[in-house]
Amino acid sequence: MRIAVINGSPKGKNSITLQTSIYLSKKFTEHEFRILNAAQLIKLLEKDFSRAEEILEWAEIVVFSYPVYTFLAPYGMHKFIELLKASGIDLSGKWATQISTSKHFYDITAAAYIEDNIADLGMRYVNGLLADMDDLLTERGREEAVGFFKYLVSMVESGVEDRIVRHRSGGTHTPKLATIPTEAKPGCEKDIVIITDGDQTDTSLGRMIARFQANIGYKTRIVDISKLGLLGGCIGCFACAVSSKCVYPDGFDSYLRESIQTADAIVYAFSIKDHSMGPLFKMYDDRNFCNGHRTVTVGMPIGYLISGDYSEEDNLRTVVEARASVGHNFLAGVATDEDDPDGTVDALCARISYAFSEGYVPPQSFYGVGGLKIFRDLIYEMRGMMRADHKFYKKNGFYDFPQKKWARSYMMYLVGFLLGNEKLRRKIKGKMNEGMLMPYVKLFRREFGEDKKQK
Ligand SMILES: Cc1cc2nc3c(=O)[nH]c(=O)nc-3n(C[C@H](O)[C@H](O)[C@H](O)COP(=O)(O)O)c2cc1C
Repeated sequence: MRIAVINGSPKGKNSITLQTSIYLSKKFTEHEFRILNAAQLIKLLEKDFSRAEEILEWAEIVVFSYPVYTFLAPYGMHKFIELLKASGIDLSGKWATQISTSKHFYDITAAAYIEDNIADLGMRYVNGLLADMDDLLTERGREEAVGFFKYLVSMVESGVEDRIVRHRSGGTHTPKLATIPTEAKPGCEKDIVIITDGDQTDTSLGRMIARFQANIGYKTRIVDISKLGLLGGCIGCFACAVSSKCVYPDGFDSYLRESIQTADAIVYAFSIKDHSMGPLFKMYDDRNFCNGHRTVTVGMPIGYLISGDYSEEDNLRTVVEARASVGHNFLAGVATDEDDPDGTVDALCARISYAFSEGYVPPQSFYGVGGLKIFRDLIYEMRGMMRADHKFYKKNGFYDFPQKKWARSYMMYLVGFLLGNEKLRRKIKGKMNEGMLMPYVKLFRREFGEDKKQK
């Protein structure tokens, strides 16, 4: 079979993810592989897409190969997908799959983003390989890669797709335009940063931004990513992991620390593009990697102004919610121009104001707790290199490894021993739940002075 590998890693041939395709090409020599270093060549492809066109037309199977970058695929892959759709090449009916490597932190949202775009292109999909970055160096990882490839070929040969049916209207987005109040509420002393990706004058998004600015009642400022002078997307060099400094001399790392992370609230404003926030926004997000894995904005309210059919974008909604939970931020709302831009913008204003006055921060959900456990283990293992992250995790008690909770662990041995004994188990029957409630009884007594016998 003719297999085109679209390499979405900015590292080009040095991509770890790409090594899996190279391994498979050496193992299965009966198939023909061609690689396009799409992300690395993105500037060239922007000018002339014919190189990509030729390889895509040649292929029977297209493999989207990429590292997971901040919940999704890297900027280069976003841009490639944008260019691919704009080129009008007809890939419908061809087969597609994906290979990603990562530390499994939100590899599923990245995969769903790719899958949604494959669906847009009318391609036939076979589930991909979502590997850990070190997997290919293990025997099990190689077996899984080989297993994946055999599965892929078999499914293609037998014409069986793995497509997950997504419910979409499929129509073009028709925004409901927000009303812009003629008078703005006076702006009290708070710093709300609205991050957007271009001049929004005369756009539906621009109207939502204007309404938000008029009604929030606090000072706001707009940061237009297109005017930040970013020299490019993250190149995955990891230099910042050691020095906290980005190799790009465009000053973004300092700007992020001194002008964005210092804000009282951040509102992201974008139009949905290819099931994501668009390439430029993705470039901004990827470049945030210079901050490492440090949750430096804990407690800060976060909001979104989104133009597009957000309610149909399950995966994007997960990304938005998960990002807030990982950062332990209050997701103060997502205003959209689907049905009620005025109402949703005003609701966002109300929730941000509430968060400011009450300091409201809900607990992290599985998205945040689970995500940070992955980071915790990763940073601990790489503490020699990721020094700033390690210092931050130590200082903020992120290293909550279970083995450190000695008292609880020994207590559980005791409980295990008691419950393991038939006689004792019968004796304490029914008392277990009561025992677990003891700390709560004590709490209520302490806080509300409740009587001992009160239940
Ligand atoms: C900017 C940036 C963002 C990343 N974001 C994630 C992430 O969200 N989840 C994850 O598990 N790994 C993340 N990683 C780690 C990469 O996915 C991982 O190192 C990958 O194997 C690199 O593959 P490559 O060599 O093919 O580029 C990130 C790395 C970088 C540089």
